[in-house]
Amino acid sequence: MNATSPYTRQAAWQLLAEYTQSPSLRKHALSVETCVRAYGECEADALGLAGDDRAAFVEKYAITALLHDFDYERFPSLDDHPFAGNKVLTELGWPEEIRTAILSHASYSGVPRVSHLEKALFACDELAGFLTACSLVKPTKSIFDVDVTGVRKKMKDKAFARGVHREDIVNGAAELGVDLDEHIAFCLKAMQRNAGELGLAGAATR
Ligand SMILES: [Fe+2]
Ligand SMILES: [Fe+2]
Repeated sequence: MNATSPYTRQAAWQLLAEYTQSPSLRKHALSVETCVRAYGECEADALGLAGDDRAAFVEKYAITALLHDFDYERFPSLDDHPFAGNKVLTELGWPEEIRTAILSHASYSGVPRVSHLEKALFACDELAGFLTACSLVKPTKSIFDVDVTGVRKKMKDKAFARGVHREDIVNGAAELGVDLDEHIAFCLKAMQRNAGELGLAGAATR
């Protein structure tokens, strides 16, 4: 997004807030954004981007993550999500690269994950939710009390956070080409850096 584009992170947040009232769904969007943005920063550095180019590249990652489930509250069925949202985004003129990446996070959409952005979104989607769940069962409700070993243990506990698809976490890391433990540690660190906004800084500071 260049400086004059209306398709900014701020506009994405406004669209999300318009469609999504649930605080936990908004937090989900923010937590996935946090992880995907961090991968965007790494990729931008790997590509040697700097200045405005780097900022625009990273913002694209942030926007895609922020909007990936923006239609879910209104259109939760597999027939509608994320297709209904894609229609809205198309009508509003959001860039195709972002829309395609959003479609690709739903494996049943038939849109393959090809780009680094698409792979990063899929890899972070379920994991961000799982790391949030791991934080909220701590007495402190703090993400600073979560570690990789504990996360791996909880992944084996089928009764814990049943809604989170473990195989998507495992496959997502593999598709992205990162070791699972490193992926968990990377996302954990990114979410810890943004713990305040995510409401996971600990009971005393929430
Ligand atoms: Fe989704
Ligand atoms: Fe999601």
